[in-house]
Amino acid sequence: MNQVFQDFSLHTIDGIISTIYLAVYPDKILLLDCGCRCDITRVETYIEKKLKRSLSSVKLVVASHAHPDHGGGAPFFCRKHGLPLAAPRGINEWYRGIMGFIQHKVDISLGYHVVRTTRKPMSNLFYDRKIRIDHPLDSGSVLPGFEDWAVISTPGHTHHDMVFYNKKEKLLYAADVILCINGKYVLPFPVPMERRMAQSLDILANLDVETMVLAHGGVKHLNGLKSITDDLKIQMTRSLPPKLEKIRILASFSPEIRKDRRQKKAA
Ligand SMILES: [Fe+2]
Repeated sequence: MNQVFQDFSLHTIDGIISTIYLAVYPDKILLLDCGCRCDITRVETYIEKKLKRSLSSVKLVVASHAHPDHGGGAPFFCRKHGLPLAAPRGINEWYRGIMGFIQHKVDISLGYHVVRTTRKPMSNLFYDRKIRIDHPLDSGSVLPGFEDWAVISTPGHTHHDMVFYNKKEKLLYAADVILCINGKYVLPFPVPMERRMAQSLDILANLDVETMVLAHGGVKHLNGLKSITDDLKIQMTRSLPPKLEKIRILASFSPEIRKDRRQKKAA
């Protein structure tokens, strides 16, 4: 269902793994993540057939992080339609080198696993591990052309995850930092940088949020995030469900995870 805010309406598209959001203004559209590679036809159809707008009315595509269901579709979509892509400045460090190469293939395989277990039709999830960015984003900046959206760095799930906050609308696009599965707020999988995730949750706890938009869990209306982030920090101290514990090792190849562990040891 679409949500109407003062300056834009928020539209939702179900991607094969994640939910894709469009902030539709009278004169422009902001695409908040673009799902997997196979999701781009869904996005195109929605904009052209449902919104009856041209694809050139999309003025910015944002990729919150490098994973296949967030950064996977965006480069294809932007290249195909000549649109600008904004992403965290460090996004291409995640999959660099041989260990990054392995992590990239593992993450695509995990994507296929999710598609299989959710009984969705099998589709192409492959994408380049290096993403060409037009607008590298830094924490504390605003989205180019959408200055009502603040950029907030929230590492933990990856070293470069970002969320986007619209102060006027008290709206947070939480990307993959907070999920809601079966009615329960949960952390993403994996959280290889727990210390940094705790700090990220503390930052979110202080935001004035009445609407939280989740890539996995839909749109939530609430009164602040403190109780949710407190609970998520407690969840981090508990062991993972056995199924996830078994595959945790597969999510620890990125050179940035190894760097973080070295820094932690040295501290
Ligand atoms: Fe992710």
